[in-house]
Amino acid sequence: MMTVRTIPRMRTVLWEARGRGDTVGFIPTMGALHEGHLSLVRRGRNECGFVVVSIFVNPTQFDVEADFQAYPRNLEDDAALCQEAGVDAVFSPGAGEMYPEPPLTRISMPALTQTMEGAVRPGHFEGVALIVSKLFSIMGTCRAYFGEKDAQQLCVVSRLASDLDMPVEVVGCPTTRESDGLAMSSRNIRIPESDRPRALCLSQALFSIRDAIQAGQRDVEFLISLGMTELTAARPDAVDYLEIVDPATLRPATRVESDVLVCGAIRVAGTRLIDNVRVHVAGPSGDPLGGSSAGEGPADRRDTR
Ligand code: PAJ
Repeated sequence: MMTVRTIPRMRTVLWEARGRGDTVGFIPTMGALHEGHLSLVRRGRNECGFVVVSIFVNPTQFDVEADFQAYPRNLEDDAALCQEAGVDAVFSPGAGEMYPEPPLTRISMPALTQTMEGAVRPGHFEGVALIVSKLFSIMGTCRAYFGEKDAQQLCVVSRLASDLDMPVEVVGCPTTRESDGLAMSSRNIRIPESDRPRALCLSQALFSIRDAIQAGQRDVEFLISLGMTELTAARPDAVDYLEIVDPATLRPATRVESDVLVCGAIRVAGTRLIDNVRVHVAGPSGDPLGGSSAGEGPADRRDTR
């Protein structure tokens, strides 16, 4: 496995790989790799001839400077995990390589970013859209793997690639969970064991809403109050949002009539946690109970939809 630090070298390496007939699989990350990231890497490894993982803690997507400074960084451990997973190249440029001068370009997608994470973290998705555009431009034609864990990000990135005709196929991958249901995240290590039950209330509330939808409940107001009751009973420090939205437009659903995304964010022990589940619902003319996703839950390590 090679480690690449500069953009020209990365382009040369990819040009050579394509010259050998390899397709390129790309997994953008900010490092602090865990099983969630590695599930994306494995998918890329299965589907592509040449696999690149980028590791870059992107300053432009942090709305709070202290969060950027505190973000865990351990390139050596990350590189070892990538090597073990069969990655061909790690792209880990320095900040000066990616931003030799402050970028003047802004990419905004207000229709997708004014709610949920975008409402709580001003400027976050502009930063994500900018770095992902730069990374896609460096990678060229590829399949790029993103986690459904960050559903709003996946939506933004998919739309970015299609709106700008980028030669990139964006592939969404299921959320990997701990055995107790907590969605894997680099932030989980910051939650003390004693606060674990408070952290777990998020996935549990999402699963309860999913179960109620699968049992036939269609009233969004009822579903949200069901989830809020479960959340507040566990006393997180704050509930940032709990929403049921259309998976493509991210607009709030008023009634559950087709597939929905149930999304939430809470704060526990000074850490922000986000999670979501997608619930399959047959249309009004189909099976009234919908739901082919039975079986997902704390015991399952991955969402299967
Ligand atoms: P990061 O938080 O490091 O995540 C990298 C990728 O791993 C994202 O696509 C994210 O959705 C995915 N991921 C994280 N936890 C996951 C889990 N439990 N299951 C499945 N996938 C998971 O997201 C970013 O970095 C950055 O915003 C980035 C896209 C790299 C741009 O800087």
